[in-house]
Amino acid sequence: MRTFFKTITLVALIYFQILFGASKDPVRGVNGMVVSASDYASEIGLQILMKGGNAVDAAVATGFALSVSYPSAGNIGGGGFFVIHFSDGKQTTIDFREKAPAAVHKDIYLDSDGNFLPDLSQKGWTSSGVPGSPAGLIFAHEKYGSLPFEELIQPAIDLARNGIILSYGAVSSLNSVYTEFLKYPASKMIFTKNGAKYSEGDTLFQTDLAKTLEFIRDLKKDGFYKGKTADLIVKQSMENGGYLTKEDLENYSPVERVPVRGTYRGYDIISMAPPSSGGVALIEALNILENYDLKKLGWASSSYIHYIVESLKHVYADRAEYLGDPDFFDVPADKLISKTYSKELFNLIDEKAKRPSEISRSTFNLYESPQTTHYSIVDKFGNAVSATVTLNSSYGNKIVVDGAGFIMNNEMDDFSSKPGSPNQFGLIGSAANSIEPGKRMLSSMTPTIILQNLKPVLIIGSPGGSTIITTVLQVVLNCLDFGMDIQTAIDLGRFHNQWLPDSIDYEDFLISEDVRNNLTNRGHKFGSKTSLGRAEGILWDRKNKIWTGATDPRGYGKAVGY
Ligand code: DON
Repeated sequence: MRTFFKTITLVALIYFQILFGASKDPVRGVNGMVVSASDYASEIGLQILMKGGNAVDAAVATGFALSVSYPSAGNIGGGGFFVIHFSDGKQTTIDFREKAPAAVHKDIYLDSDGNFLPDLSQKGWTSSGVPGSPAGLIFAHEKYGSLPFEELIQPAIDLARNGIILSYGAVSSLNSVYTEFLKYPASKMIFTKNGAKYSEGDTLFQTDLAKTLEFIRDLKKDGFYKGKTADLIVKQSMENGGYLTKEDLENYSPVERVPVRGTYRGYDIISMAPPSSGGVALIEALNILENYDLKKLGWASSSYIHYIVESLKHVYADRAEYLGDPDFFDVPADKLISKTYSKELFNLIDEKAKRPSEISRSTFNLYESPQTTHYSIVDKFGNAVSATVTLNSSYGNKIVVDGAGFIMNNEMDDFSSKPGSPNQFGLIGSAANSIEPGKRMLSSMTPTIILQNLKPVLIIGSPGGSTIITTVLQVVLNCLDFGMDIQTAIDLGRFHNQWLPDSIDYEDFLISEDVRNNLTNRGHKFGSKTSLGRAEGILWDRKNKIWTGATDPRGYGKAVGY
């Protein structure tokens, strides 16, 4: 029966891809669509949709599949956020962000002289928060899924056990942290080829991960947060100076939160509320920018870049001062996303670049390390899920839990380890995001859904640490202000400013000499030429009444529709 089903779906998949998906992106879909950073995970999500599952079912299946096929960021040892729009108009978010273990205190990453020790917050077991992903995916399914849980997790189990064929992208990614994997026996065993580097076309088997996923399939939350898996996590954490305890794992639960909501030129925006800064920052930026005729300024003109950068300086200064876990800190989100406040900020922006000290809410900087992943899903019922998940750094702290086959996060580094003074990366934070037991560390993840007349028209998000917010913002502007198709909107060059440091980072070919000179004359400084974000988006093509999806050419993902 299962083989019959698999054959039918494969034939259907090929048929529909010939019909819709075989062309170069944007990929088209009449009924539904999945876009993720992994072709395996996108195909699994699509199969769930084609089987009659809803967008939440597909998001759960895609999430588990990413933990196998995209181990740099897809995870069960980390956390993330879902932003969901339901066809009946209801909207919600699921916060399965990692939490600080109970045994921590605010100074755990400082030496006796008060110096910040980033190796402790970024490397080893000390860097791990309590994982939230298994609980989040299970919760999403229990409350909003429609298919049996086993059917959503089984494809990931099969993928882990039968192996994935490593693409060029997967191999480059794995080998970029090869020397780190060699340091930890279980990481070396799984993510290197007997100590050598993997090559394109090799098969990666993850049998321990398959077993852990089977525990989750059979015992749900208890398959991860209690029993064998929990024992392995706690034992290895304790033996290596980590903070995680059995109680931390048993006590973990995801939180359903009201989305943060805004409007932009007649569109409705829903995005992730604190403990992510993403939604508030995106809406605050859009509110300021609504006061400009961006289209008239011209895409990537010096004025366009100037006004966006000046708006972002205010947004990131506010992020530093006011944003943290709302369960621990009174976050003034409503004020930050109000149109009145944005008008005040708009009035402060002039023709010259402001120095950070002229904007200062406090002093701070951001350091984010590179890996997270976003996926976007719509179904035939009109539901949409925008999901961003992360281990923080690429492959988290690089430590595979021996015997359980998954990588642990190093999300504790997203806290401000030493509020008020810079770390070696220039990071300074405020009390809003200081370390406290059980607290969630502030995130920049910005899973977002944009609606018109109560229907989703854009489902978007990205990895990229602090550059997530600017990446999502620019894709949104490209679609809404400039009417670009989703592939163009994602492909085109991006720039970034986060108030501190006082410089604009940018992608190759975006800023011409002429534009650069104009910006320099206005007082702007330039940082590094770098790649910014990896967006995965779905856009409603109003004219053709069809979904269009695009994966970011900066990565190796896949958009699939039917
Ligand atoms: O939650 C956050 O904001 C970070 N942990 C995300 C890290 C990230 O996006 C790195 N990816 N490129």
